Amino acid sequence: MKVVAVRDYQEMSDLAAKYIIQQVKKKPSSVLGLATGSTPKGTYQKLIEDAEKNGTSYAQVRTINLDEYVGLGQDHPQSYRYFMKANLFNHIDILKKNTYVPNGKAFNLDEECQCYEQLVRSIGVDLQLLGIGVNGHIGFNEPGTPFHSSTHIVKLADSTRKANSRFFETVEEVPKSAITMGIDSILQSKEIVLLASGSKKADALQKLVSGKTEDKFPASALKLHPNVTLIADYEALAKVP
Ligand code: F6R
Repeated sequence: MKVVAVRDYQEMSDLAAKYIIQQVKKKPSSVLGLATGSTPKGTYQKLIEDAEKNGTSYAQVRTINLDEYVGLGQDHPQSYRYFMKANLFNHIDILKKNTYVPNGKAFNLDEECQCYEQLVRSIGVDLQLLGIGVNGHIGFNEPGTPFHSSTHIVKLADSTRKANSRFFETVEEVPKSAITMGIDSILQSKEIVLLASGSKKADALQKLVSGKTEDKFPASALKLHPNVTLIADYEALAKVP
């Protein structure tokens, strides 16, 4: 894993956006794997600014998101589909039909997982953007998720629900489960860019860089992939030797 240290959140966002823009310029029909959460928000803002200023087009790009809460429809302000529309899709020239997010309101969730996994495998992600949870989760793959996992339904860890409660009125409102691409689904991507910013992520990065590769710490699976770049700021890297 290549580690790129940057000063702060802004620099991380700038650099991550550059990776994505470069990918889209090189291959206008790229497939981008996208994440939600606080970490990639700045990157998406940079992509929007670049599209406005330099006319970068996403007309042929397809995107596939990592995860979605079970039970939240696309018009629920905390759903990940809604997040993607508000923070990126509505502001660039991407076609809605080319943006994939799991359907958290699917009648048959197992079938939704199977179809989504088929999509991941057939579409071939060129560049996957990832954030990391304080417990090392990637997507919603919580500690203990097997590395060979495909898209599945997951019960969210209390620490994850607590961390995500900042977007809801109360922690009770945070859904108890989600659909997530599995670890093996994520590892299918040709290239992965993992982002981390701030002191809250310092323990996770220390474990990622210095710890064992084991399912107790899901992000450690990324060490099995040949083309991963970690872009992290000094605060997040503070405990990395
Ligand atoms: C979001 C996702 C999660 C987040 C992680 C970090 O689609 O898959 O794994 O990347 O929870 O979240 P933030 O960026 O809010 O710290």
